[in-house]
Amino acid sequence: MLMDTIISTMSETMQQMRGEGLFLTTKAEKTNTMIIGWGGINVYFRRPIFIVPVRLSRYTHELMEASTHFTVSVPRPGELSKAIAFCGSKSGRDYDKFAECGLTPVPGRESEVPVIGECVLHYECEIIYKQHMDKDKLKPDIDSEVYPNSVYHSFYFGQINACYSQS
Ligand SMILES: Cc1cc2nc3c(=O)[nH]c(=O)nc-3n(C[C@H](O)[C@H](O)[C@H](O)COP(=O)(O)O)c2cc1C
Repeated sequence: MLMDTIISTMSETMQQMRGEGLFLTTKAEKTNTMIIGWGGINVYFRRPIFIVPVRLSRYTHELMEASTHFTVSVPRPGELSKAIAFCGSKSGRDYDKFAECGLTPVPGRESEVPVIGECVLHYECEIIYKQHMDKDKLKPDIDSEVYPNSVYHSFYFGQINACYSQS
């Protein structure tokens, strides 16, 4: 049942990820959100998984390391452009992005991490595996193209415990 719901949302979610991006929300010492344009929905360990890549430099990385859950919220195409620009360029170390952008943190159903009220679709995820990138295993031309400053990603595998629309 959950898997069917997830499958029915995948196309919309991946289109939006390729487009303006998705909100990745975390909560530890602070609630914060940033934009992701990479990652996606997969099946591993017999479970539906949302993989999110977060560079070591992000405040979100600190919060993910201190937390067990995250959420991904999908905006409607063409909406929330200002919030996306802000959350995709400013750091939660310096701003309360929810207040700055007028975003509403709506309590999650499965964890304490909120979803974003202004978005149309939400995934609530529990981190069940993470992998910090090993530069030596990366094809050299991708290393120089994507990581000229050697700021690598950690990949967080979040078991999707809930997936729902809210408009
Ligand atoms: C369209 C778009 C896609 C992005 N995708 C990613 C991503 O997949 N992983 C990542 O670490 N940063 C990504 N970023 C950059 C972060 O959203 C940005 O650095 C943000 O300010 C980090 O916020 P934080 O310091 O509060 O965590 C993306 C930004 C934009 C605009």
